[in-house]
Amino acid sequence: MKLTIISKTIDDTNKIGENLAKLAFRGEVLTLSGDLGAGKTTLTKSIGNSLGIKDEINSPTFNILKCYFHEPISLFHIDAYRLEDVRPEQKDIGLEEVIEGNGLCVIEWPAFIDEMIPFDSLSVEILLNDDGSRSFNFDTLSPKYFHILEALKEVFKNA
Ligand SMILES: Nc1ncnc2c1ncn2[C@@H]1O[C@H](COP(=O)(O)OP(=O)(O)OP(=O)(O)O)[C@@H](O)[C@H]1O
Ligand SMILES: [Mg+2]
Repeated sequence: MKLTIISKTIDDTNKIGENLAKLAFRGEVLTLSGDLGAGKTTLTKSIGNSLGIKDEINSPTFNILKCYFHEPISLFHIDAYRLEDVRPEQKDIGLEEVIEGNGLCVIEWPAFIDEMIPFDSLSVEILLNDDGSRSFNFDTLSPKYFHILEALKEVFKNA
């Protein structure tokens, strides 16, 4: 199932994040790909804030992984950007356990850890448009995410 939402402002992106958080479940895997500066970390922040996480959520580029333990759902934020040129055997740093874990796992630059991404995740490609708006292209093969896309479609139907 596919869905495209245009985000004209940060408020729109926050609204996407809020709705993703509302329907988040343990074991969810959300991948965020797209241009540099497109809004991947911005979306992750709004998801985290909407989950009720009070810590500052920032780009984990220099950490690769940040875990925000929280009830009822923890947020595991992976940024694979720095793993681009790393050999597969050296990427074995426990990310798979986190991805298969029981939180919401949000992954920036999933292409660089392609072999670890479950086929049934929810993928979002965020594209930066010429007018400054962002296209959020959602795509998933898994029915466990269909209701999330239906809900987002409803929220943005008049946008
Ligand atoms: N509609 C919008 N949605 C999201 N971010 C927006 C929007 N309009 C402007 N921005 C700005 O774009 C920037 C997005 O930066 P962000 O760090 O989220 O990008 P990123 O995709 O994580 O980049 P990187 O690939 O470097 O990790 C922020 O400065 C944000 O304020
Ligand atoms: Mg980022």
